Amino acid sequence: MHTELCRVDPEQPDPRIVARAAAVLRAGGLVAFPTETVYGLGADALNENAVRRIFEAKGRPPSNPLIVHVAGLEAARQLAADWPASAQALGETFWPGSLTLVVPKKELVPAIVTAGGPTVALRVPAHPVALALLRAASVPVAAPSANRSTRLSPTTAAHVLRDLGGRIDMILDGGPATGGLESTVLDVTTSPPRLLRPGLVTPQEIEAVIGPILRPLERPGALAVAPARSPGLMGKHYAPRAALECITGDARQRIDQLLCEGQRVGWLTFDRAVSHLDPRVTVVVMPSDAREYAAQLYARLHEVDALGVQRIVVELPPDTEEWLAIRDRLRRASAR
Ligand code: TXA
Ligand code: MG
Repeated sequence: MHTELCRVDPEQPDPRIVARAAAVLRAGGLVAFPTETVYGLGADALNENAVRRIFEAKGRPPSNPLIVHVAGLEAARQLAADWPASAQALGETFWPGSLTLVVPKKELVPAIVTAGGPTVALRVPAHPVALALLRAASVPVAAPSANRSTRLSPTTAAHVLRDLGGRIDMILDGGPATGGLESTVLDVTTSPPRLLRPGLVTPQEIEAVIGPILRPLERPGALAVAPARSPGLMGKHYAPRAALECITGDARQRIDQLLCEGQRVGWLTFDRAVSHLDPRVTVVVMPSDAREYAAQLYARLHEVDALGVQRIVVELPPDTEEWLAIRDRLRRASAR
């Protein structure tokens, strides 16, 4: 299959190109598009065969349900059998934006989208290209991150092309995804609501609107509760090809040890003064601001991975809530 790559202006995408992408979706095809979190791989959520193609292209297990993207709050409600007051308040506050709400599904949502479950995950993305595509398609669009299953999420069209070129119909290239981490997923079918995946919308921001929510604990064992509720929260996920390990504090000793073992290493550090004379070490200095770090993380991991290093050593950010989503992704990337 030929994958058509189309450049569009991130703020004001050419309506003719958007209309073509929308026609591909309505005909049951697969279109990758930028969102403000990461690139998504879209299909008409109400077309079972189209959605099946997402699972095939990604190599995604059918037990892992998809997020359905819509153009606005009203369109979201159309897919929900029940719309809790918390969903209304959160939708009004954070949509369009990087919060996904899990609610009871209406019958018209095919079982393949929800992995056979009674709930559906809904999100209104904020990226102008995503919104334009959703409006033009005028169907709900199921879209997981546009990467092969278990690989790193893509934050550029080039990442998508590398992973899924030849397997999908079209990629809308709207430049880098600025948020850089997948959306926050919140289950509002329970009381109190439960955070299933931390993201750029923080627990405090959610609690400021609806009061206390349940958070996942950080130990890996805590993820054991996840598969039934949210299969995508299984331990190993979002991983680069190279083995990734997280280090608390200065990683220098560990780097030297890996060099002694003859490994080529990528080193993500906070220390601007770090340099390494050994050519087998690629040093990447990461921002100390959590939002900037999130925006860059996947792109930097894609880069060092492409250099063919065998190990990626990452200095863990602080154990505070602003770093929650980043620590979550790093922990998953290091699960083997
Ligand atoms: O930012 C994002 O959310 C991106 C962009 C493209 O919107 N999408 C994304 O999709 O990250 P994906 O498929 O990579 O992750 C979806 C997550 C998975 O952890 C999945 O298990 C969970 O949402 N999920 C989907 N439907 C669910 C449901 N009904 N109940 C619980 N979890 C659900
Ligand atoms: Mg994903």
